[in-house]
Amino acid sequence: MQQLSGPIKYQEWNLDAAKMAVQEFRGRTGGVMLALHRIQQLFGYVDPSAMAMLGKVFNLSRAEIHGVTSFYHDYKTSKPGKYTVKVCQAEACQAMGSVKLTEDIKSFLGVDFHETTASGDFTLEPVYCLGNCACSPNIMIDQETYGRVSIDGFKALTESLSTATSEESA
Ligand code: FES
Repeated sequence: MQQLSGPIKYQEWNLDAAKMAVQEFRGRTGGVMLALHRIQQLFGYVDPSAMAMLGKVFNLSRAEIHGVTSFYHDYKTSKPGKYTVKVCQAEACQAMGSVKLTEDIKSFLGVDFHETTASGDFTLEPVYCLGNCACSPNIMIDQETYGRVSIDGFKALTESLSTATSEESA
């Protein structure tokens, strides 16, 4: 099995740091999208307290900012789990059993899409093609793609990640 990497490290939410990070996008076409992306890269999510700040920076209403974040599911407005698990829902993976795999993963983790496990370890998201169709069904955990995934393989993977995380924090 390949070497498992640790979770992506995000900064703790800080409104002042977020405000500084988005200044370079002020006045640029599509600046608000770039700003949301930068915030999510830094903190893992866009805290609701950023909406008013972004509205001021980009001269938009809070409702307009909220509209952008809720339209694009890639923007999270609550703190994600230590790992983000994405399960491919596109055609090739569906043909190789991703619908059943998805149901089994949801049931194993006890969450639906866009939710985080009670342990705070895993956030579950759908994804539409990871470019690895020949090895369907595919999942992605943080930046790593895993092909030909079975529910048993998934359980073993998440167990290793949970162990790695608890050893790291010990
Ligand atoms: S359809 Fe799943 S990786 Fe392409």
